[in-house]
Amino acid sequence: MPSANDPRRALRRNIYAVLQMAKAAATWAPGINAISQRRSRGSDNHLYCYAVWLRHLCLAHKNGLCTAPPEHVAELGPGDSLGVGIAALISGAESYRAFDVVAYANTDRNLAVFDGLVDLFARRADIPGAEAFPRMKPLLENYAFPHEVLTAAHMERNMAPARIARLRRAVETGDASVIGYTAPWRGQSLGGAEIDMIISQAVLEYVDDIAGVHAELSHWLKPSGFVSHEIDFKCHGFANEWDGHWRYSNAVWKFMKGRRLYTINREPYSVHERALTTAGMQIVGAQFHPQPSNLQRTDLTSSLAHLTEQDLTIASACIQARKF
Ligand SMILES: C[S@@+](CC[C@H](N)C(=O)[O-])C[C@H]1O[C@@H](n2cnc3c(N)ncnc32)[C@H](O)[C@@H]1O
Repeated sequence: MPSANDPRRALRRNIYAVLQMAKAAATWAPGINAISQRRSRGSDNHLYCYAVWLRHLCLAHKNGLCTAPPEHVAELGPGDSLGVGIAALISGAESYRAFDVVAYANTDRNLAVFDGLVDLFARRADIPGAEAFPRMKPLLENYAFPHEVLTAAHMERNMAPARIARLRRAVETGDASVIGYTAPWRGQSLGGAEIDMIISQAVLEYVDDIAGVHAELSHWLKPSGFVSHEIDFKCHGFANEWDGHWRYSNAVWKFMKGRRLYTINREPYSVHERALTTAGMQIVGAQFHPQPSNLQRTDLTSSLAHLTEQDLTIASACIQARKF
């Protein structure tokens, strides 16, 4: 494999960057933005929501954060449906609140996902693994239905026809005591200390005010409540190498972001780690998904000099942290 400084590799990198700049320029054309970010993709599929919810729940159980599904669950950035939260409700949560900057979800899609999820829980289906979602993280050691956290007695109660009918009606009518959806969310605060678990999947790489969001989420949690965040630090197509976005100067990066509704923030793992600690959270589990770095420290743009050696190889991570 040619070295990172190989001239042909550098040329390919530059051509790719120019194409991305052209794409960014197109986001200024009227209507293009609205078309390209009309869907978030992922949570419109019930299997996807089942996999995301159960993977976070199983990890939380393994990390000693819960012995059963938490009662009050919140999610940041649910995307196309509220399916992850609906999965939480079906598995025993009493309430779920979602917050997104764009209102992607709608009642029809939520109901379709609801019905698909009920079927999966009724069959105690295994958690979809790499064959269904090759790139999905976090990973588990075991993808069998998690009877240790969703016990037979617990599931019998949860799946009682009257409870399922009540939940479906709550999704249909938007009963705020069971299911809440704030979108567009512009950082509005909850009263505080209401939530047991906050989940996010592929969201925190987009938020601009990382310290502010972690502080706000910590404020929402009850004492001993916890967060579970899967964060993707890769370039999201802005470069032809997973870490190529960390090379771009601030000016190039600003141009590349164009006029999209939201774009990745380019911040690495250590920034979240610091922000969580400052927000009064204790990290109890961090599942890293490493990739070899393509960068020398001298390749980093100066505003990203704070990236640690470890950051350079963390392509994504699932961070679970408890309020203390
Ligand atoms: C890649 S999608 C992931 C959606 C969903 N979690 C999934 O797994 O399919 C990113 C989501 O984050 C939301 N988002 C972006 N910036 C956000 C912010 N500052 N606060 C809350 N949500 C945000 C987007 O609107 C979108 O729904």
